[in-house]
Amino acid sequence: MKDDPGLPTTFDSSAIAKDEMNWDAYAEHYDLMCALNPAYQENINLLLERLRSWQLPSTSTICDVGAGTGNYICAMADQFPDGAIFHIDFDARMNELAQQKYLERGIKNVQILQDHILNIDLPKSSVDLVICINSIYAISPQKSVLEKAHEWLKPRGRLFAIDFGRKQRTLDWAIYLFRESLKSGEVGRYAKGLIEAREVMKQNRQSTKGQKSGRYWLHSTDDFGKSIADAGFEIEELFACYRGYADLAVCRPLSN
Ligand SMILES: C[S@@+](CC[C@H](N)C(=O)[O-])C[C@H]1O[C@@H](n2cnc3c(N)ncnc32)[C@H](O)[C@@H]1O
Repeated sequence: MKDDPGLPTTFDSSAIAKDEMNWDAYAEHYDLMCALNPAYQENINLLLERLRSWQLPSTSTICDVGAGTGNYICAMADQFPDGAIFHIDFDARMNELAQQKYLERGIKNVQILQDHILNIDLPKSSVDLVICINSIYAISPQKSVLEKAHEWLKPRGRLFAIDFGRKQRTLDWAIYLFRESLKSGEVGRYAKGLIEAREVMKQNRQSTKGQKSGRYWLHSTDDFGKSIADAGFEIEELFACYRGYADLAVCRPLSN
């Protein structure tokens, strides 16, 4: 009998499938695209608004699943100077870029856990807030990711999830980014971005292939809410965001 290879512990860009995104290559251009994309900042603001109303203690334990280049952690770290922040991502290049930012900004309480999320064990009921931003769709089975978050959360903890669930329409995004750059007088930056964005477009095409093959989860807002409820959460908020391409859910674990 063959040994079960199990889940990869790190993303291996030399062995990607035709319908799979190359997160290493994406990482190099990720932040430039985010800077050109006001909808990305709007998503960060949605989290910051909720943090203001939740008033979590500065000692909170926070976990970012699929944390990428660390933009969300950078945006909220100053609210948790005495807490513990876990950055989970299996892609080495994303993590390197995040680490650089944490160093530059003097954010010292982040621990980067480089592994497939489903290989990671945090103590049960130990986390105050889990965030998953545009990562759940990419990780199968989604149910297991949601169950992990449920297991890690304290009884009064929260999951804040935004998840890209609609068909990727690359042209629609290109037009949107161009219009936004016109409004902000950043056309030069957009043109530079377009040149650099070739790799991002390539990755977007890969993601379209992955959506077609079923590797990446396509969902409606209702599907998303149902999966979250099935994993044992009570939903406080659920609505479409990110120009209608993603869904946002805020939820709390129901007791087992
Ligand atoms: C679209 S990016 C989002 C990054 C970040 N959350 C943000 O919004 O800027 C998705 C991230 O999920 C990570 N990822 C995908 N599958 C993963 C897995 N199985 N385990 C851990 N991280 C994963 C990728 O490496 C990538 O950094």
